[in-house]
Parts: sequence; structure tokens; C-alpha cells
Amino acid sequence: MTSLTITPGLPLRGTTTIPGDKSLTHRAIILTALAEGTSTIVGYCQGEDCLNTMRAFQGLGIPITQSPTELTVCGKGFWGLSEPSAPIDCGNSGTGIRLLTGLLAGQDFFSILTGDDSIRRRPMGRVVKPLREMGAVIGGRKGGELAPLAITGAGLHAIEYTSPVASAQIKSSLLLAGLFAQGKTRYKEPRLSRDHTERMFRFFGIPLVNEEDTLVLQGRPSVGWRGVDVTIPGDFSAAAFFIVGATIVQGSDITIRNVGMNPTRTGLIEVMRKMGADIQVVGQREEAGEPVGDLRVKSAPLKGVAIGHDLIPRTIDEFPVLCVAAAVADGDTVISGAEELRVKESDRIATMSRELKAMGALVEERPDGMVIRGVGRGGENGKLNAAHKAQSHGDHRVAMSLAIGGLTAEQSMTITDTSCVDTSFPNFEKVLASLLANPA
Ligand code: S3P
Repeated sequence: MTSLTITPGLPLRGTTTIPGDKSLTHRAIILTALAEGTSTIVGYCQGEDCLNTMRAFQGLGIPITQSPTELTVCGKGFWGLSEPSAPIDCGNSGTGIRLLTGLLAGQDFFSILTGDDSIRRRPMGRVVKPLREMGAVIGGRKGGELAPLAITGAGLHAIEYTSPVASAQIKSSLLLAGLFAQGKTRYKEPRLSRDHTERMFRFFGIPLVNEEDTLVLQGRPSVGWRGVDVTIPGDFSAAAFFIVGATIVQGSDITIRNVGMNPTRTGLIEVMRKMGADIQVVGQREEAGEPVGDLRVKSAPLKGVAIGHDLIPRTIDEFPVLCVAAAVADGDTVISGAEELRVKESDRIATMSRELKAMGALVEERPDGMVIRGVGRGGENGKLNAAHKAQSHGDHRVAMSLAIGGLTAEQSMTITDTSCVDTSFPNFEKVLASLLANPA
């Protein structure tokens, strides 16, 4: 079992880049596989989650070659996928399994989707139920609530669906199924979740219309789309660890280049600025229909804030590291309306509460969030203790967040079971070490 040891005492300084965006890489692989001809995906995320999606499409008959910087995908057109001869292993990836379930539901063949222990515990009914309304034939454990899922491809028909949850995975799963369905799929969500699928559909020329707050997609388009070159911006969720790290460790000053700045993802900047953080966004530009910028972050004292419903979807993956910022801040941070955190790679309300308590923070767990009483005092950030045995709980974002928390401790701290970091950010330790190695 791998572990990660963090030695505190040094500020984060200098300039870095981060891996390509995980959400965008999944989507780029899917849409280039359905394109006519060759595409390149430059700066793709090399995390295990995306590699599993790449292998899934290889198993569906799509030639894909991999270099350290780009994927080359030989798309076979709209109906070009073929029956896989073995179950598809999505590993740890909720995005992988849910998007593929939607896509494969409308194909003319049988497939099985599965993943690791964590994936086989996570709710799949949220996509299986509406897909069945579209005519999908999907079996699974607990009536289709849990993977493995067995999909007997069927002719789908479009539906009008209002999701009870603001979830980009549900939205994208239904839009991919809607592409292969007869008629117009109409989709509505309670709050806007990340809109990468919508943007990438448009980048590929797939007509998707917004009618007020409803997305409308005509299924089975008469013309397909051609292969393209897609450049993937850096993953904001990976940058988040260093945004928090540089803010809470005194004397830090870093620049992170080429970060995806999609407003449906950057809630952390808003929250951190309210807490007192010094974050500047420079050089805004656009890449593959997505806003991109460089971030400069300097250390600053933080105070506690209230985070409610409105900010949750735009900050969803950043809560573990945001909890670390709250734990060193002066005052209480109250998180509510965040029950979705309980069904991520781990139950992040439970795992972060437990680990931060072990590091000396006062945390009250609530069904839909938590109250974190920061250890900061008199307007200054405080320091956490090095936990005796910090645990990742097999969750990549918990592992990396605890590493950032460890930077403020008095002694070095070891986090166990950290191979999960590879699911999204294989060179996390290297990037962190390089920022800690730059002299003031
Ligand atoms: C993702 C959507 C989010 C996020 C996940 C990636 C995506 O999940 O937590 O890490 O790429 O669509 P939900 O939208 O289901 O909350």
C-alpha cells in the first residue's frame, strides 16, 4: 500500500502547470470516438479514470493511441461502436460509468459496465431510472441501483426529464442517450451543474438548444461530425489543492498556468475570496469552447464563511480541500445543502470530518454538510496537528486535501493508501515538491 509523507515548514513558490481536465478528457474521448476520422486530444488527463474510459472505447472497437502529451482517436462515426467482448471496467470513475451507461443504452449490442469497490457502492439508479423511461434495457444489482450494470442495447425514444439533482453526470448520460434516441430529448435540472457536455457538443457542431432553462436535443442527427484537434485546459479541481495550499501556508506566492476557468467549476475562487484569499486571474482566453486563464495565489489570512445551496454544484469536487481551508481559518464555516458529498468516491462529509478531527479541528457533521470551527485566532490562520495515522479512505481528493492540510502541521505527517491519487493527478507529489523547492 502506498503512502505519502508531507514535511511542513516551507512556503509554496514559483510557477506550475497541472494535469488536463478530467471531465473534459472523458467527454473528448467519447465525442471523438463517435466522429468520422482522426482526432487528437492534446493535454489529456493521464489519470486512471480517463485511461479507463480510453480502454473502454478501445474495447468498443475504436483505435486509440497514447503518447505522453496526446491521444489519437480514429473515430468510426455515429453508429461505429461495436460489441465489447468483455465487461468494461470503469475503475473508480463515476463519470466514466454513468456517461457510458447513457451512451451504450442506445447501441445495438450487449455490454456490461463495472468498476472498483467504491463504484460498486455508488448510486446508479439516478441514471438507470430515466434511461429505462427512454426504453433502455438495463439490469443490475438491487434492481439496477448498483453496478455491475448489464445493458441490452435498445431503440430509445426521447423523453422530457427534470432531474431532482443538479448533476452533470446525470445530464450528460441522458444527453448521450438522447443523441441515439428517436425524437427531441428535453432536460432540466434544479441548478446548473458543470456544462462541459453542452459546450463540447457545440464545439463538435452537435445542435443543442437552450429553451429558457431546458436543454433540447434532436436525436439521431442527419449529419454526423468530423474528427478535430481538441486541446484540454488544466483541471481546475487539480489547481484547487495548490490554491488552498498557497493561501494557508505563510510566505507562499504561486502561479498556476493554463487552468480551466469554466464558471460552473470555479465556485472555490468565490468562496476563498469571501474568506479573504488573494487570488488573481490573468490572461483569460478560450480553448475548445472553454474559458482558460492563469492564476496567481498569495498567502492570506482566512475567516470562516457560510456556504449554501447555490454554490454547491460549482464547488462540488473542491469541498475536501475547502474543508482544510476552513479548518485553519478564524471562525466557523457552515456548509449546507451538500448531501451529494455523501455519494462521491467516499462519503466526503464523514471522511473529511473524521480526518480533520484527527488533526485537531472541531467539526460537527450534519446530514447535508458540516460546521467547521477553524483553529485560526485573531484574524490569523492556525495550524493543524499531524494526524497519527491519516487515511485517504481510497478517495483521491481526500488524500490530496490531507496532504495540503499537513503543510500547516508542526511535524511531518504520513497519509496511507494514497495510490488512489493516480485516478486524477498521478504527478501530484512531484508538482507539490517542486513548489516547495523554490527559494523565497
Ligand atoms: C463530473 C460531475 C460531478 C463531479 C465529478 C465529475 C463530470 O458529479 O463530482 O467528479 O465530469 O460530469 P455530479 O455532477 O454527478 O455531481
